[in-house]
Amino acid sequence: MSTTSYFALVPAAGGGSRMGASLPKQYLSLAGRPLIRHALATLCAVALIERVYVVLSPDDAHWPEDEFSDLAAKLRVLRCGGATRAESVANGLRAMSGVVAVDDWVLVHDAARACLSVDHVESLIRAVGNDAVGGILAVPVADTLKREAWGRIAATVPREDLWQAQTPQMFRHRMLSTALAAAPSVTDEAGAVESLGLKPKLVAADATNLKVTYPLDLQLAEWILANRK
Ligand code: CTP
Ligand code: MG
Repeated sequence: MSTTSYFALVPAAGGGSRMGASLPKQYLSLAGRPLIRHALATLCAVALIERVYVVLSPDDAHWPEDEFSDLAAKLRVLRCGGATRAESVANGLRAMSGVVAVDDWVLVHDAARACLSVDHVESLIRAVGNDAVGGILAVPVADTLKREAWGRIAATVPREDLWQAQTPQMFRHRMLSTALAAAPSVTDEAGAVESLGLKPKLVAADATNLKVTYPLDLQLAEWILANRK
């Protein structure tokens, strides 16, 4: 069997509309650095990952080049973001294809999940590195879930067997490219792979790997980063 290599792909071409800030959220300050710097630095610090590709919007005028000179050995910037997250990922996969072999692993990670730790990434790689399909970090749902209709509860949804999907989501380059071409309107990579009839592995992570979406999440993320270890 040939040895497979590991790459990271970080979609960062979103506008951050739910944050309601004047800058896309990936460029807001978090713990004294641009938010996007945190996840990129973590992925670059994972020894097994060869290169980290970040996908920016083609007209992005905010990328802070000087913040990343220490990561230059592993980090590559791709200005090929699309109209949706799935399109940004698909474009990134295409741009990587000269360097990445069809069976190499690609770990797709949201730029907005700034509190990702090296431990999170290594536990995913450990659990999925020999898997035939691939897998994702996720957490079991803790709260009781309600389905809403017109502001009132229409039903209680059993939470057994329900998980919240996080990133990284780890699949082989060819499988993920094929899956996204066949199912371009998915909201995560696992969704695309599931549409091929395959069953990605769930790897338990924890709530510190939150996605910064609303203003309050910035404060939570700062607290998590300040109190780690
Ligand atoms: N993303 C992307 N290309 C898009 C939309 C989103 O690369 N066309 C990226 C975002 O930059 C982010 C990740 O996908 O790192 C997860 O998306 P989300 O948290 O929804 O970010 P935004 O789409 O920017 O925020 P919002 O949905 O609030 O507008
Ligand atoms: Mg979005």
